Amino acid sequence: MASKISFTLPTGQKMPALGYGTFETKDEQEVEAAINAALEQGYRHIDTAFVYENEKPIGKVINQWISSGKLKREDLFITTKLPMVGVHVDRVEMFMKKSLENLQLDYVDMYLIHFPVGYKYHEGGPHMFLIENGAAVTEPKTDHAAIWKKMEEQVDAGRAKSIGLSNYNISQITTVLQSARIKPATLQVEMHLYLQQRNLREFCKKNGITVVAYSPLANPNLNKFLEKMGIKSKQLPDILNNPVVGKIAQKHKKTAAQVALRFLLQIGVAAIPKSVTPKRIEENISIFDFNLDGNDMKALHNLEVGEAARTVDFKAIPGAEKHPDYPLKQNEY
Ligand SMILES: NC(=O)c1ccc[n+]([C@@H]2O[C@H](COP(=O)([O-])OP(=O)(O)OC[C@H]3O[C@@H](n4cnc5c(N)ncnc54)[C@H](OP(=O)(O)O)[C@@H]3O)[C@@H](O)[C@H]2O)c1
Repeated sequence: MASKISFTLPTGQKMPALGYGTFETKDEQEVEAAINAALEQGYRHIDTAFVYENEKPIGKVINQWISSGKLKREDLFITTKLPMVGVHVDRVEMFMKKSLENLQLDYVDMYLIHFPVGYKYHEGGPHMFLIENGAAVTEPKTDHAAIWKKMEEQVDAGRAKSIGLSNYNISQITTVLQSARIKPATLQVEMHLYLQQRNLREFCKKNGITVVAYSPLANPNLNKFLEKMGIKSKQLPDILNNPVVGKIAQKHKKTAAQVALRFLLQIGVAAIPKSVTPKRIEENISIFDFNLDGNDMKALHNLEVGEAARTVDFKAIPGAEKHPDYPLKQNEY
């Protein structure tokens, strides 16, 4: 079933409300199989990032679909992101071009600044970080206006149809808006039933910014990733086994994941669930044949926990939390 609802961006582009996330998938064969499965199931919005190290196999599959005539480029909505080592005026264009080369595309539909903190870049360093005294070195305070100007130049050059932000708080988005010639079209942040971010959503609505929810299922397998990285696992919000969600799912003959995703769409937010499991890839996009009623929505709104339910805090990236632009410390999101 195709993703039937889309959001219209200021450029007139239609962004499918249900997209396909690709974080934590970098094994080439796994990525290729998953993207093929997602395209077969009707996903047309794919979310990747330079740092996910999977742009190449994603690009390979997309191009196979286009060259075989199964899809046209304009049928797809491809998002990728400027890495933290690219958050510097001298490096935005370079990383944009690297992503296009990886994806074998002339343009992306959406280019996002992945995170508002910049890191010094070293081509041969681990994840391109410059390491000094055993730690990745951050850039000084981010010049949001200057970086955004470089993002706008990517639109002018035809490399990105639209540009946006990820993991920015209200104060940082306000700064960008003050100097923007091209306004950010989307904001990608963690959002799910337990972290509904009402203030941020209202702020974005007022400013014509479409919100895209990442970790829309609160990534139930995040600890496997953290363990692989040698990072302490954490207590995760368990949306999929929540009895309220389960009861609503039963009522509509749907799964808990489908209810969680449908909720986001009904509050006007796009979602990009990730799965490499064919059955779940199909399950996650099969949410356009039912409607949550007023009582369902009320019960689901009441599941809000707030900040304690945030799963992705970037604290594992050395130095991020201490940087003046770390976005999650000011109660401004
Ligand atoms: N901008 C950012 O900083 C940022 C940060 C995080 C994520 N993202 C983006 O958002 C996407 C989604 O977020 P996420 O990957 O963190 O979390 P998520 O989509 O909430 O959860 C993904 C996990 O849930 C499992 N899963 C998926 N569908 C399921 C279902 N129907 N039932 C049970 N389990 C299911 C998947 O397992 P299997 O794969 O094993 O099926 C996967 O391990 C990412 O892939 C990435 O594209 C962006």
